[in-house]
Amino acid sequence: MAEITKSEVLNAFKKIEDKNLNVNLLTLNSIKTVETKVNDFVVNVVLPVPPAAVTDELKNKFVDILKSNFGRLEKVKVNIETKVTSHKDEKKERLLPGVKNTIAVASGKGGVGKSTVAVNLAVALARDGAKVGLIDADIYGPSIPLMLGINEKPKVYQNPKSAKMLPLENFGIKLMSIGFLVDDGTPVIWRGPMASGAVKQFMTDVEWEELDYLVFDMPPGTGDIQLTLVQTIPLTGAIIVTTPQEVSLIDARKGLKMFNRVNVPVLGIVENMSFFIAPDTGKQYDIFGTGGGENLAKELEVPFLGGIPINSKIRIGGDQGIPMAFDNPDSDYAKTMQEVARKVATEINLRNLNDTNVEIILGDE
Ligand SMILES: Nc1ncnc2c1ncn2[C@@H]1O[C@H](COP(=O)(O)OP(=O)(O)OP(=O)(O)O)[C@@H](O)[C@H]1O
Ligand SMILES: [Mg+2]
Repeated sequence: MAEITKSEVLNAFKKIEDKNLNVNLLTLNSIKTVETKVNDFVVNVVLPVPPAAVTDELKNKFVDILKSNFGRLEKVKVNIETKVTSHKDEKKERLLPGVKNTIAVASGKGGVGKSTVAVNLAVALARDGAKVGLIDADIYGPSIPLMLGINEKPKVYQNPKSAKMLPLENFGIKLMSIGFLVDDGTPVIWRGPMASGAVKQFMTDVEWEELDYLVFDMPPGTGDIQLTLVQTIPLTGAIIVTTPQEVSLIDARKGLKMFNRVNVPVLGIVENMSFFIAPDTGKQYDIFGTGGGENLAKELEVPFLGGIPINSKIRIGGDQGIPMAFDNPDSDYAKTMQEVARKVATEINLRNLNDTNVEIILGDE
Protein backbone atom coordinates (compact mmCIF):
# COMPACT_ATOMS: atom_id res chain seq x y z
CA MET A 1 0.00 0.00 0.00
CA ALA A 2 1.32 3.46 -0.88
CA GLU A 3 2.47 5.52 2.07
CA ILE A 4 0.25 8.34 3.15
CA THR A 5 2.28 11.51 3.51
CA LYS A 6 2.18 14.24 6.12
CA SER A 7 1.01 16.78 3.56
CA GLU A 8 -1.87 14.56 2.47
CA VAL A 9 -2.89 14.28 6.10
CA LEU A 10 -2.52 18.03 6.57
CA ASN A 11 -4.71 18.70 3.54
CA ALA A 12 -7.37 16.45 5.01
CA PHE A 13 -7.14 18.15 8.41
CA LYS A 14 -7.54 21.58 6.81
CA LYS A 15 -11.17 20.68 6.12
CA ILE A 16 -11.99 20.29 9.81
CA GLU A 17 -14.42 22.87 11.06
CA ASP A 18 -14.48 23.45 14.78
CA LYS A 19 -15.18 26.39 17.02
CA ASN A 20 -12.10 25.73 19.14
CA LEU A 21 -9.59 25.18 16.38
CA ASN A 22 -8.69 27.76 13.80
CA VAL A 23 -7.54 25.63 10.87
CA ASN A 24 -5.05 28.31 9.90
CA LEU A 25 -3.09 27.14 12.93
CA LEU A 26 -2.51 23.74 11.41
CA THR A 27 0.85 23.48 9.74
CA LEU A 28 2.97 20.64 8.56
CA ASN A 29 4.87 21.06 11.82
CA SER A 30 1.72 20.12 13.73
CA ILE A 31 1.88 16.61 12.33
CA LYS A 32 4.68 14.80 14.07
CA THR A 33 4.45 11.31 12.62
CA VAL A 34 2.22 9.37 10.29
CA GLU A 35 2.47 5.60 10.65
CA THR A 36 0.72 3.29 8.22
CA LYS A 37 0.84 -0.44 8.94
CA VAL A 38 -1.26 -2.72 6.73
CA ASN A 39 -4.70 -1.52 7.73
CA ASP A 40 -3.71 0.46 10.80
CA PHE A 41 -3.12 4.13 10.65
CA VAL A 42 -1.72 6.25 13.48
CA VAL A 43 -1.22 10.01 13.32
CA ASN A 44 0.51 11.97 16.08
CA VAL A 45 -0.42 15.62 16.11
CA VAL A 46 0.70 18.56 18.24
CA LEU A 47 -1.84 21.38 18.17
CA PRO A 48 -0.90 24.94 19.14
CA VAL A 49 -3.94 25.40 21.39
CA PRO A 50 -4.52 25.15 25.14
CA PRO A 51 -5.34 21.59 26.30
CA ALA A 52 -9.04 22.24 26.96
CA ALA A 53 -9.61 23.11 23.30
CA VAL A 54 -9.13 19.43 22.46
CA THR A 55 -12.61 18.10 23.17
CA ASP A 56 -13.79 14.58 22.35
CA GLU A 57 -15.86 16.17 19.59
CA LEU A 58 -12.71 17.62 18.04
CA LYS A 59 -10.82 14.33 18.42
CA ASN A 60 -13.62 12.54 16.57
CA LYS A 61 -13.44 15.09 13.75
CA PHE A 62 -9.80 14.21 13.22
CA VAL A 63 -10.56 10.50 13.08
CA ASP A 64 -13.62 10.96 10.83
CA ILE A 65 -11.80 13.11 8.32
CA LEU A 66 -9.03 10.53 8.01
CA LYS A 67 -11.56 7.75 7.54
CA SER A 68 -13.41 9.67 4.85
CA ASN A 69 -10.23 10.70 3.02
CA PHE A 70 -8.36 7.44 3.25
CA GLY A 71 -11.30 5.05 3.12
CA ARG A 72 -9.24 1.91 2.78
CA LEU A 73 -8.08 2.18 6.38
CA GLU A 74 -9.74 0.12 9.04
CA LYS A 75 -8.18 1.24 12.29
CA VAL A 76 -7.45 4.91 12.64
CA LYS A 77 -5.88 6.43 15.72
CA VAL A 78 -5.09 10.10 16.28
CA ASN A 79 -2.97 11.08 19.28
CA ILE A 80 -3.28 14.76 20.04
CA GLU A 81 -0.86 16.70 22.22
CA THR A 82 -1.08 20.43 22.79
CA LYS A 83 1.66 23.00 22.97
CA VAL A 84 1.18 26.75 23.09
CA THR A 85 3.62 28.41 20.67
CA SER A 86 6.23 30.81 21.92
CA HIS A 87 6.87 34.40 20.86
CA LYS A 88 10.45 34.50 19.60
CA ASP A 89 12.01 37.66 20.93
CA GLU A 90 15.56 38.19 22.05
CA LYS A 91 14.69 40.62 24.86
CA LYS A 92 11.99 38.31 26.18
CA GLU A 93 14.39 35.36 26.21
CA ARG A 94 16.76 37.45 28.32
CA LEU A 95 14.26 38.94 30.81
CA LEU A 96 11.69 36.16 30.97
CA PRO A 97 13.35 32.98 29.72
CA GLY A 98 10.60 30.54 30.81
CA VAL A 99 7.70 32.69 29.60
CA LYS A 100 6.31 31.94 26.16
CA ASN A 101 4.08 34.97 25.60
CA THR A 102 3.34 38.32 27.24
CA ILE A 103 0.08 40.25 26.93
CA ALA A 104 -0.61 43.85 28.02
CA VAL A 105 -4.18 44.74 28.97
CA ALA A 106 -4.44 48.47 28.39
CA SER A 107 -6.91 51.28 27.87
CA GLY A 108 -6.70 54.95 27.12
CA LYS A 109 -9.32 55.94 29.66
CA GLY A 110 -9.30 54.92 33.33
CA GLY A 111 -11.98 52.86 35.01
CA VAL A 112 -13.18 51.02 31.90
CA GLY A 113 -12.53 47.57 33.36
CA LYS A 114 -8.91 46.75 32.45
CA SER A 115 -8.13 45.05 35.75
CA THR A 116 -11.40 43.13 35.62
CA VAL A 117 -10.62 41.96 32.09
CA ALA A 118 -6.96 41.19 32.95
CA VAL A 119 -7.92 39.04 35.96
CA ASN A 120 -10.71 37.19 34.19
CA LEU A 121 -8.66 36.70 31.03
CA ALA A 122 -5.88 35.16 33.12
CA VAL A 123 -8.36 32.91 34.94
CA ALA A 124 -10.04 31.89 31.66
CA LEU A 125 -6.69 30.99 30.04
CA ALA A 126 -5.79 28.94 33.12
CA ARG A 127 -9.16 27.18 33.05
CA ASP A 128 -8.28 26.06 29.53
CA GLY A 129 -5.19 24.39 30.93
CA ALA A 130 -2.59 27.06 30.19
CA LYS A 131 0.08 28.10 32.70
CA VAL A 132 -0.62 31.74 33.47
CA GLY A 133 0.96 34.60 35.42
CA LEU A 134 -0.37 38.08 36.06
CA ILE A 135 1.59 41.24 36.82
CA ASP A 136 -0.28 44.19 38.21
CA ALA A 137 1.71 47.07 36.75
CA ASP A 138 -0.80 49.77 37.67
CA ILE A 139 1.23 52.33 39.56
CA TYR A 140 -1.79 54.58 40.09
CA GLY A 141 -3.90 52.02 41.88
CA PRO A 142 -2.86 48.39 42.02
CA SER A 143 -6.15 46.55 42.38
CA ILE A 144 -5.37 42.97 41.51
CA PRO A 145 -4.48 41.72 45.02
CA LEU A 146 -7.98 42.82 46.07
CA MET A 147 -9.62 41.33 42.99
CA LEU A 148 -7.92 37.98 43.62
CA GLY A 149 -8.41 38.01 47.38
CA ILE A 150 -4.70 38.08 48.17
CA ASN A 151 -3.40 40.03 51.13
CA GLU A 152 -0.07 38.42 51.89
CA LYS A 153 3.29 39.64 50.65
CA PRO A 154 5.44 37.48 48.39
CA LYS A 155 8.15 35.35 50.01
CA VAL A 156 11.76 35.76 49.07
CA TYR A 157 13.63 32.65 48.18
CA GLN A 158 17.40 32.62 48.42
CA ASN A 159 19.28 30.39 46.05
CA PRO A 160 23.08 30.21 46.02
CA LYS A 161 23.38 32.91 43.35
CA SER A 162 20.60 35.37 44.05
CA ALA A 163 17.41 36.13 45.93
CA LYS A 164 14.15 35.68 44.04
CA MET A 165 10.60 36.56 44.95
CA LEU A 166 8.02 33.79 44.72
CA PRO A 167 4.79 34.88 43.06
CA LEU A 168 1.58 34.40 45.04
CA GLU A 169 -1.00 32.00 43.68
CA ASN A 170 -4.77 31.89 43.60
CA PHE A 171 -7.42 30.58 41.16
CA GLY A 172 -4.73 28.71 39.24
CA ILE A 173 -2.68 31.78 38.34
CA LYS A 174 0.56 33.26 39.66
CA LEU A 175 0.60 36.90 40.65
CA MET A 176 2.89 39.82 41.39
CA SER A 177 1.61 43.29 42.12
CA ILE A 178 3.12 46.71 42.43
CA GLY A 179 0.82 46.89 45.46
CA PHE A 180 3.19 44.51 47.27
CA LEU A 181 5.93 47.14 47.14
CA VAL A 182 3.96 49.92 48.79
CA ASP A 183 1.98 50.18 52.00
CA ASP A 184 -1.80 50.21 51.77
CA GLY A 185 -3.25 53.65 51.63
CA THR A 186 0.05 55.44 51.08
CA PRO A 187 0.01 57.37 47.83
CA VAL A 188 3.22 57.00 45.90
CA ILE A 189 4.28 59.41 43.21
CA TRP A 190 5.92 57.28 40.61
CA ARG A 191 8.09 58.60 37.86
CA GLY A 192 8.65 56.73 34.60
CA PRO A 193 12.06 55.24 35.50
CA MET A 194 10.83 54.12 38.93
CA ALA A 195 7.77 52.46 37.45
CA SER A 196 9.73 50.70 34.74
CA GLY A 197 12.38 49.71 37.32
CA ALA A 198 9.72 48.05 39.48
CA VAL A 199 8.20 46.24 36.52
CA LYS A 200 11.64 45.13 35.35
CA GLN A 201 12.22 43.68 38.82
CA PHE A 202 8.98 41.72 38.47
CA MET A 203 10.30 40.20 35.31
CA THR A 204 13.86 39.37 36.38
CA ASP A 205 13.65 38.86 40.17
CA VAL A 206 10.54 36.70 40.33
CA GLU A 207 10.62 32.94 40.06
CA TRP A 208 7.96 32.56 37.33
CA GLU A 209 9.22 29.20 36.11
CA GLU A 210 7.45 28.04 32.95
CA LEU A 211 4.46 30.09 31.77
CA ASP A 212 2.42 29.99 28.56
CA TYR A 213 1.11 33.51 29.13
CA LEU A 214 2.13 36.39 31.38
CA VAL A 215 -0.58 39.06 31.48
CA PHE A 216 0.22 42.67 32.45
CA ASP A 217 -2.50 44.90 33.87
CA MET A 218 -1.37 48.34 32.70
CA PRO A 219 -2.01 51.75 34.22
CA PRO A 220 -4.63 53.76 32.29
CA GLY A 221 -3.56 56.38 29.81
CA THR A 222 -1.02 56.91 27.08
CA GLY A 223 1.49 59.26 28.71
CA ASP A 224 5.22 58.98 29.28
CA ILE A 225 4.97 56.39 32.05
CA GLN A 226 2.80 54.07 29.99
CA LEU A 227 5.10 54.49 27.00
CA THR A 228 8.15 53.72 29.16
CA LEU A 229 6.41 50.59 30.48
CA VAL A 230 5.47 49.23 27.07
CA GLN A 231 9.06 49.77 25.96
CA THR A 232 10.38 47.98 29.04
CA ILE A 233 8.21 44.88 28.73
CA PRO A 234 8.98 42.56 25.80
CA LEU A 235 5.36 42.33 24.65
CA THR A 236 3.90 39.70 22.37
CA GLY A 237 0.77 41.80 21.99
CA ALA A 238 -1.74 44.12 23.63
CA ILE A 239 -5.46 44.07 24.27
CA ILE A 240 -7.30 47.36 24.45
CA VAL A 241 -10.33 47.65 26.71
CA THR A 242 -12.91 50.30 26.01
CA THR A 243 -16.50 51.10 26.88
CA PRO A 244 -18.86 51.88 23.98
CA GLN A 245 -19.09 55.64 24.49
CA GLU A 246 -17.16 58.16 22.42
CA VAL A 247 -14.93 59.53 25.23
CA SER A 248 -13.58 56.07 25.85
CA LEU A 249 -13.23 55.22 22.16
CA ILE A 250 -11.16 58.36 21.51
CA ASP A 251 -8.74 57.27 24.23
CA ALA A 252 -8.71 53.69 22.92
CA ARG A 253 -7.53 55.04 19.53
CA LYS A 254 -4.67 56.80 21.33
CA GLY A 255 -3.82 53.52 23.05
CA LEU A 256 -3.62 51.75 19.72
CA LYS A 257 -1.36 54.47 18.32
CA MET A 258 0.95 54.13 21.32
CA PHE A 259 1.38 50.39 20.71
CA ASN A 260 1.86 50.98 16.97
CA ARG A 261 4.63 53.45 17.74
CA VAL A 262 6.59 50.83 19.63
CA ASN A 263 5.72 48.03 17.18
CA VAL A 264 3.66 45.99 19.61
CA PRO A 265 0.80 44.22 17.78
CA VAL A 266 -2.69 44.95 19.04
CA LEU A 267 -4.35 41.55 19.41
CA GLY A 268 -7.82 43.06 19.59
CA ILE A 269 -10.37 45.21 21.34
CA VAL A 270 -12.62 44.16 24.22
CA GLU A 271 -15.73 46.23 24.80
CA ASN A 272 -16.66 46.28 28.47
CA MET A 273 -19.93 47.50 29.97
CA SER A 274 -21.48 46.87 26.56
CA PHE A 275 -25.07 46.58 27.74
CA PHE A 276 -27.18 45.86 30.80
CA ILE A 277 -29.82 43.15 31.02
CA ALA A 278 -32.41 44.00 33.65
CA PRO A 279 -32.61 40.93 35.88
CA ASP A 280 -36.36 41.37 36.48
CA THR A 281 -37.54 41.92 32.91
CA GLY A 282 -34.66 40.55 30.82
CA LYS A 283 -34.77 43.76 28.78
CA GLN A 284 -31.48 45.03 27.35
CA TYR A 285 -30.36 48.61 28.03
CA ASP A 286 -27.41 50.08 26.13
CA ILE A 287 -26.24 52.36 28.90
CA PHE A 288 -23.07 53.60 27.24
CA GLY A 289 -24.36 53.27 23.69
CA THR A 290 -23.92 50.30 21.45
CA GLY A 291 -21.49 48.87 18.89
CA GLY A 292 -18.70 51.38 19.64
CA GLY A 293 -16.00 48.80 20.34
CA GLU A 294 -16.88 46.67 17.33
CA ASN A 295 -16.95 49.68 14.99
CA LEU A 296 -13.64 50.87 16.36
CA ALA A 297 -12.10 47.44 15.77
CA LYS A 298 -13.31 47.59 12.15
CA GLU A 299 -12.00 51.11 11.69
CA LEU A 300 -8.60 50.24 13.14
CA GLU A 301 -8.51 46.85 11.39
CA VAL A 302 -7.90 44.81 14.52
CA PRO A 303 -9.97 41.86 15.78
CA PHE A 304 -13.01 42.48 17.96
CA LEU A 305 -12.57 40.08 20.86
CA GLY A 306 -15.96 40.38 22.53
CA GLY A 307 -18.47 42.52 24.41
CA ILE A 308 -18.94 42.12 28.18
CA PRO A 309 -22.23 43.24 29.76
CA ILE A 310 -22.61 45.36 32.88
CA ASN A 311 -23.46 43.00 35.68
CA SER A 312 -23.40 43.78 39.38
CA LYS A 313 -21.99 40.28 40.01
CA ILE A 314 -18.85 41.28 38.11
CA ARG A 315 -18.33 44.22 40.43
CA ILE A 316 -19.16 42.18 43.54
CA GLY A 317 -16.78 39.40 42.41
CA GLY A 318 -14.05 42.02 42.00
CA ASP A 319 -14.68 43.53 45.42
CA GLN A 320 -14.83 40.14 47.13
CA GLY A 321 -11.73 38.77 45.45
CA ILE A 322 -13.47 35.97 43.54
CA PRO A 323 -13.31 36.48 39.76
CA MET A 324 -16.53 35.73 37.88
CA ALA A 325 -14.74 33.55 35.34
CA PHE A 326 -13.83 31.27 38.23
CA ASP A 327 -16.84 31.52 40.48
CA ASN A 328 -19.60 31.33 37.95
CA PRO A 329 -18.18 29.49 34.91
CA ASP A 330 -21.61 28.82 33.39
CA SER A 331 -22.65 32.47 33.36
CA ASP A 332 -22.86 34.26 30.01
CA TYR A 333 -20.17 36.54 31.28
CA ALA A 334 -17.72 33.73 32.03
CA LYS A 335 -18.49 32.20 28.63
CA THR A 336 -17.77 35.51 26.93
CA MET A 337 -14.46 35.76 28.80
CA GLN A 338 -13.61 32.20 27.75
CA GLU A 339 -14.26 33.15 24.12
CA VAL A 340 -12.13 36.28 24.50
CA ALA A 341 -9.33 34.16 26.00
CA ARG A 342 -9.50 31.63 23.15
CA LYS A 343 -9.46 34.38 20.53
CA VAL A 344 -6.43 35.95 22.23
CA ALA A 345 -4.67 32.57 22.32
CA THR A 346 -5.47 32.03 18.63
CA GLU A 347 -4.25 35.51 17.62
CA ILE A 348 -0.99 34.91 19.48
CA ASN A 349 -0.49 31.47 17.97
CA LEU A 350 -1.16 32.77 14.46
CA ARG A 351 1.41 35.51 14.92
CA ASN A 352 3.98 33.16 16.42
CA LEU A 353 3.51 30.68 13.58
CA ASN A 354 3.72 33.44 10.97
CA ASP A 355 6.95 34.59 12.53
CA THR A 356 8.64 31.23 12.44
CA ASN A 357 6.88 28.84 10.14
CA VAL A 358 7.23 28.71 6.41
CA GLU A 359 6.81 24.99 6.09
CA ILE A 360 3.13 25.16 5.34
CA ILE A 361 3.89 25.56 1.63
CA LEU A 362 6.67 22.99 1.54
CA GLY A 363 6.41 19.43 0.31
CA ASP A 364 6.45 16.18 2.26
CA GLU A 365 8.44 15.16 5.33
N1 LIG B 1 -18.78 44.59 33.18
C1 LIG B 1 -18.83 45.11 34.41
N2 LIG B 1 -19.99 45.12 35.11
C2 LIG B 1 -20.07 45.65 36.36
N3 LIG B 1 -19.03 46.21 37.00
C3 LIG B 1 -17.85 46.23 36.33
C4 LIG B 1 -17.68 45.68 35.02
N4 LIG B 1 -16.40 45.85 34.65
C5 LIG B 1 -15.78 46.46 35.67
N5 LIG B 1 -16.65 46.70 36.68
C6 LIG B 1 -16.37 47.39 37.94
O1 LIG B 1 -15.96 48.72 37.61
C7 LIG B 1 -14.91 49.14 38.45
C8 LIG B 1 -13.69 49.53 37.59
O2 LIG B 1 -13.21 48.38 36.96
P1 LIG B 1 -11.64 48.07 36.88
O3 LIG B 1 -10.99 48.33 38.15
O4 LIG B 1 -11.51 46.72 36.27
O5 LIG B 1 -11.25 49.19 35.81
P2 LIG B 1 -9.80 49.67 35.38
O6 LIG B 1 -9.90 50.07 33.93
O7 LIG B 1 -8.79 48.68 35.74
O8 LIG B 1 -9.62 50.95 36.26
P3 LIG B 1 -8.28 51.81 36.46
O9 LIG B 1 -8.15 52.61 35.22
O10 LIG B 1 -8.57 52.61 37.67
O11 LIG B 1 -7.16 50.82 36.63
C9 LIG B 1 -14.63 48.00 39.40
O12 LIG B 1 -15.34 48.21 40.60
C10 LIG B 1 -15.19 46.78 38.67
O13 LIG B 1 -15.61 45.76 39.56
MG1 LIG C 1 -7.07 48.83 36.95
